[in-house]
Amino acid sequence: MNEMSQPRPRKIPTLQSLSASQQAAIRAIPAHDAAQKVTCGATRPTGDFTTPERFLAEKAKIFRHFPVAVAPSGQLPEPNSVLAHNGYGVPLLLTRDKGGVVRAFLNVCRHKGSLLVESCETAKMGRVSCPYHAWTFGLNGDLVGVPRQELFEGLDKSTHGLVRLPAREAGGIIWVKLDKTADDDFSHVTDELVSDLDALGFPSAYVYGKRTFPIQANWKLVLEPFLEGYHVQRLHAQSIGQLFADVPSVHSRLGLHMRQISGKAQFEPTMLDVPGENIHKTVTHAYLLFPNTVIVTSPYYISLMIVMPVSERESVVDYYMLTQSAPDNPKAEELYSKSYQIIQGVFGNEDFRAAAISQTGLESGAIDELTYCGLEIAIPEFYKSLESLL
Ligand code: FES
Ligand SMILES: [Fe+2]
Repeated sequence: MNEMSQPRPRKIPTLQSLSASQQAAIRAIPAHDAAQKVTCGATRPTGDFTTPERFLAEKAKIFRHFPVAVAPSGQLPEPNSVLAHNGYGVPLLLTRDKGGVVRAFLNVCRHKGSLLVESCETAKMGRVSCPYHAWTFGLNGDLVGVPRQELFEGLDKSTHGLVRLPAREAGGIIWVKLDKTADDDFSHVTDELVSDLDALGFPSAYVYGKRTFPIQANWKLVLEPFLEGYHVQRLHAQSIGQLFADVPSVHSRLGLHMRQISGKAQFEPTMLDVPGENIHKTVTHAYLLFPNTVIVTSPYYISLMIVMPVSERESVVDYYMLTQSAPDNPKAEELYSKSYQIIQGVFGNEDFRAAAISQTGLESGAIDELTYCGLEIAIPEFYKSLESLL
């Protein structure tokens, strides 16, 4: 958990505090008894989840080219701070300089290649010094100090700065391209997505808790439950199932990203007209930030999950619980800490577990394809986007 920051007055998020596009989507949710029956006949080959060839193609063509979410801004909130990150199998060093600008580098010393920062905890520092021979770099990547520099023949410090990766902070997320030769085009992070995330309060959100889950499942199997409502009444029957109805969500594409909005159980549109009502009590937003990041809203917090592929059968999820501000009274602390326990149980023991047992079943070779229904139609849409890039 981060240090407590200055308490900020809490605002109730209402329908009116959301973006115009979110409000329009919410207004389009039908009353549950008026929801349409949607059918779907899509399938996926089992090999997409089990073969190393497919996995390597996804890594090369998608994870190396696209801006991926690395962390919420709240994980690196203070000027003059750094955050090392290894989840993507690439040693990253994120920095926030004294002016607040975020940059990304490879966490590798230009002298002889040592890792610069070993711990993946956020740390306050104005420059980074290599543990090996103490070459020192500014947070803008410049090499600023070399002990006994007179012993290097013709060393040009200006060409020995840190290796930079394209990075952008937008919508309260730090996005990075993991390839040092990638261009600086971040148009994938669309304005519409950013205005949604801004309206949800991402840029100023506080990281109440972070937990890393290693999961024995292909990264796409970990994402699937967050793209469908079919499992909610079944897999979550003993936990959150009764909070939701068994009807399709309203889903919209924001570029390659996806937004799904669903009304809570017994939803009907007149509920939206209660003035001052916390909108997250009435509807749930679930986003897929293409390709691999999920957001789910709850009344008092937001879950952010970054699903990072390790191999065709292993993934790592960084789960973040984001709140509007640090808890500044015992009631808020109790609410957040209880929610943190509950949500880790639901996602960890139910959704992530479902992904792992599906991986085991698919690897047995028993079935050649997976089959999807009308409550899962965002999944084939996601695969359409993925296939268009492979
Ligand atoms: S490897 Fe970093 S200073 Fe030598
Ligand atoms: Fe779920």
